[in-house]
Amino acid sequence: MNKDSNSTKVFITCALPYANGPNHLGHMRSTYIPADIYARYNRMKGKDVLFVCATDEHGTPIAVQAEKEGIQPIEVASRNYELIKKDLESCDISFNNFSRTSDPLHYEISQNFFLKLYEKNCIYPKTIEQLYCPQCERFLPDRYVEGTCPQCNAEGARGDHCETCGRHLEPVQLIEPSCLLCNSQPEIRKSDQYYFRLSHFQEQLKEVMENNHELPSNVRNYALQWINEGLKDWILTRDMDWGIPVPLDDTEGKIIYVWGEAFLGYISSAVQWARRNNKKWKPYWDDQTVHFIGKDIIYHHSIFWQAFLLAYGCKLPYNIVAGEYLSLEGRKMSTSKNWVIWVADFVEKFEPDLLRYYLVANAPLTRDTDFSWDDFQRRVNDELADVVGNFMHRTFTFTHRFFNGKIPQPGPLNEYDQEVEKQIKETPERVGQHIENFDFREGLKEIVRLAKIGNKYFNDQEPWKTVKSDPKQAGTCLYLCNQLAKVISIIITPYLPNKAAQMREILQLNQIDVDDTGIVPILKWDESEVFMEVGTPIAKAKPLFKKIEDKTIAKEKDALYKNLEENESMEDLISIEDFAKINLKVGKIIGAEKVKGSDKLLKLMVDVKDKKLQIVAGLATKYSPEEITNQKVIVLVNLKPAKLFGIKSEGMVLAAEDSLCLLTAPDADIGEGIR
Ligand code: 2FM
Ligand code: ZN
Repeated sequence: MNKDSNSTKVFITCALPYANGPNHLGHMRSTYIPADIYARYNRMKGKDVLFVCATDEHGTPIAVQAEKEGIQPIEVASRNYELIKKDLESCDISFNNFSRTSDPLHYEISQNFFLKLYEKNCIYPKTIEQLYCPQCERFLPDRYVEGTCPQCNAEGARGDHCETCGRHLEPVQLIEPSCLLCNSQPEIRKSDQYYFRLSHFQEQLKEVMENNHELPSNVRNYALQWINEGLKDWILTRDMDWGIPVPLDDTEGKIIYVWGEAFLGYISSAVQWARRNNKKWKPYWDDQTVHFIGKDIIYHHSIFWQAFLLAYGCKLPYNIVAGEYLSLEGRKMSTSKNWVIWVADFVEKFEPDLLRYYLVANAPLTRDTDFSWDDFQRRVNDELADVVGNFMHRTFTFTHRFFNGKIPQPGPLNEYDQEVEKQIKETPERVGQHIENFDFREGLKEIVRLAKIGNKYFNDQEPWKTVKSDPKQAGTCLYLCNQLAKVISIIITPYLPNKAAQMREILQLNQIDVDDTGIVPILKWDESEVFMEVGTPIAKAKPLFKKIEDKTIAKEKDALYKNLEENESMEDLISIEDFAKINLKVGKIIGAEKVKGSDKLLKLMVDVKDKKLQIVAGLATKYSPEEITNQKVIVLVNLKPAKLFGIKSEGMVLAAEDSLCLLTAPDADIGEGIR
């Protein structure tokens, strides 16, 4: 029984994937596969499921990418929408609708939502200081700016987030910010923005998080921790072109922040579905809503989204399920370092059901886990092929060899037979309970356990012997084994829809139609309670799971580790853009003296034509002040000033590292650039 057993409709959503690149296995593990299992199970339980998603197409990463490629953001988004849709379809994620946040309907719904919150005084204007790039003549929101993190001092922190310490940032907090487009130093300018009164919902949110007992502990604990730290009002608009315009007067050039409208994608996708199918979407929301997300966006869903819903005045979700991270071969996945497995690459070589199996069997959703090729091979070979596949195969082939391919007549059931029968009858309920509790892995383990019971029973009963010595007993054994196979073919459906269909084909269970998703069989969970009748014919066995060979895995590992090697050697290389940052000029040393108290240092005055730089250089062991004066040398002129021996140094004179031999340019003009 579903815990909220009165509800007949279920609204299921998956976090909207950013349309800035295709999906990798981490996305599938944390969000899409668990959500699909839940959706498929609920449909089988007779619930009316609305399972929706969309691509999240606004935000600075897509705008920056477009700018780099010299195309429009919508072109980047459209390209990735196609890739993402294909990725999800290739893993049989059974959405009823998959839309896009660039759809006009989404604009309309998001703007109306914003207006409603504004009218309710939950959104208010405020003049704030923001970074502005005078060179590009634009404000620099979020990822348009990089700098040093004010909290952990890591370099390369983005305007909205520091990857190193994981903190949310505002661009003005960055130390030494620089514009991502032109590299110049932005200035601070005043700008009018709109804020959401998040602080107002502090107490209500706390109550919600404490009282919703469905919420998994990772979601509740994180959220309560943040709420207890105190919630601040949240800036909801940006000065940029790519996004949904703020629907208020005098707001030209302002858009709603991507996180202020992406959630509405759940609704706009549902509305799109409802319009296309002449149905209503709201009853689904009002019955029971479950959001599946990755753990990196727990904050957004538990706090921002729920506060939005409270502000708007509608029902809060029944649950928010957050899948944790997937690492790869023990290392953090990184798309920039190519330490990643893309869905499209995976399904080109392996069946999607194997991936669905592995990613669920591997660890509970609420724990970080690792994808390893060896472990993938081991689980497929030892669990799917040797346990599930082997059980099915021997049952079906034996039924053909000795019982004419028909379900045999059982004899009286002895204690052992009865115990096996009990397991066959009880397992579906246990699996269902686990799925309803979002313990997908536990449910899957029950199924494999049932197959193990089947294998042991088959071995213990030795039907290959009793078929001659005690045919009744052999009949009982194969009768029960076929029933067990049938139960598995049904209850494994949410997990491995394709393999389940193959099993049911062999068992010749009623030919099943698909529902309006076009891929989900209309099949009832409770079918598992019905035993096949004696004499029912079954088809010839076909191998269900092929073992994965060592050489196949070795090939994958080689390819992956090659990426790593390439990247590691690449890490020593700098890009032409990096090199372009180095400003070298010919300079003339017009003054030199020893630094008091140091044997190594000379204080130099260097003329680089447009200015004179004071440089402290470690050249005293090789050159006397007299020797070095009047030399034309190569100078790094854009080095951050530093103090050496308490003396300010504003550049660097280049010399060979060990011999300290000065790089000179006697025939060049002072101030000439070096390339
Ligand atoms: O983190 C992400 O990938 C976001 N694109 C998720 C958005 S989910 C919601 F807001 F719709
Ligand atoms: Zn930081």
